Amino acid sequence: MPRAFSISADSVAAERDRVGGDLEKMDASRVVKLDEVKLRDLGPGDVRLKILAVSAEHNVDHAAIADTMNIAEARGGKMYPGNSAMGEVIEVGANVTKFAVGDVVVTHCNGEPDMYGYPLRIWAYDQPDSVGWYGEEAVVGEWQVIKAPLDCGLNLWEMAALPLRAPTAYHMWRRAIGIYRLKVDRGQRARINVLGFGGGVSELFLMLAKHEGHRAIFCSGSPDRRKHLESLGIEPIDQKEFNRFADKGDVKAFNKHVKGMTGGEGVHIVCDMLRGNVYPAGLAVLSRMGVNISSGWQLSTQVDYNSANLSVRQITLDHLHYETVPGCAAATELYGSVFKPTIHREIYAFEDLPRAIHEMHENTQTGIPIVRVAEDLPEAVRSLVP
Ligand SMILES: NC(=O)c1ccc[n+]([C@@H]2O[C@H](COP(=O)([O-])OP(=O)(O)OC[C@H]3O[C@@H](n4cnc5c(N)ncnc54)[C@H](OP(=O)(O)O)[C@@H]3O)[C@@H](O)[C@H]2O)c1
Repeated sequence: MPRAFSISADSVAAERDRVGGDLEKMDASRVVKLDEVKLRDLGPGDVRLKILAVSAEHNVDHAAIADTMNIAEARGGKMYPGNSAMGEVIEVGANVTKFAVGDVVVTHCNGEPDMYGYPLRIWAYDQPDSVGWYGEEAVVGEWQVIKAPLDCGLNLWEMAALPLRAPTAYHMWRRAIGIYRLKVDRGQRARINVLGFGGGVSELFLMLAKHEGHRAIFCSGSPDRRKHLESLGIEPIDQKEFNRFADKGDVKAFNKHVKGMTGGEGVHIVCDMLRGNVYPAGLAVLSRMGVNISSGWQLSTQVDYNSANLSVRQITLDHLHYETVPGCAAATELYGSVFKPTIHREIYAFEDLPRAIHEMHENTQTGIPIVRVAEDLPEAVRSLVP
């Protein structure tokens, strides 16, 4: 049986006991365990993948810490996480037409599209019986993979950073600009100000905004990430200069700073992703007609707002989950030309995946964390290893 990482309700409970129930002290690396997985038999519409590399993602941290919900318990006591991967097709079912053995593919995590194509559930999270890709092999439906654009100019690790984060950023951007354009069309305003708070999805969101000619501003506590974005023409703000918005005075100072940068106008679109302390800061700096968008709740699941204040300013708050399946393929077209992700300086070995999750939680990484799963890489990607 292939090796794969699992999260069990028992290991969540044991770690909770160890820290006396204090979620702040939980260490995901003690919860995510190297295990084995029995994969389903290959069906006619399935492909078997050899997993090459994966990125660490916050949903795995949320599953291990069980802070938003105890998903391992809800999944019957055990789950196999991992919903962002690059793999090589090593076997195809009888009815598979789009892929052949030897193709290199990326995954998307839309587990069950609704009537409009948006996910009702996420693969390897709340989709029942879904087995994730933090393992040596996987069996998935042909509809779950997209050919990797190997000639896009990105290296292997950069491509492995994108399967989950790029479609999220892509959907957020097309939603946010669409909402803004409903209010202010191109005949009135061509170039707008766009601000994102720290994190991989935000970075990609800002790359889309910049690419389309807008002014993009990255407010992050990470010097490495700010430097990378600055090299792409995205203006930096050090979030730590505003104490990560610990109190109202910090938000006020940040608002003054951003208004100063933008001739008093503020920003038209904010990519939040974290909620918590960054949420009021994001609302404060919005211009009239502004849009605040998020698909993450890393710091808090709750937000509140003054409806009268936002109404008078014509502000829209939007929440979203994840792209449609065609949208994921469209996002993949932009690898390399638009999406140039920041990669953490260590490429983790497979056995070190739990540490990668813990270090992501601790926010000590210099970019998106990548785990190399396969030692022996196919010929097609060997030249893409930096
Ligand atoms: N719905 C979806 O499909 C989807 C997809 C991907 C991610 N998400 C969610 O979105 C969130 C961000 O994901 P990501 O992949 O962009 O994460 P990421 O690349 O790991 O970035 C997270 C960022 O959070 C910032 N941060 C950490 N602690 C903070 C604090 N106390 N105050 C302010 N900022 C803090 C850090 O920014 P700096 O240190 O640089 O300031 C860090 O770079 C997560 O909650 C994740 O679950 C949702």
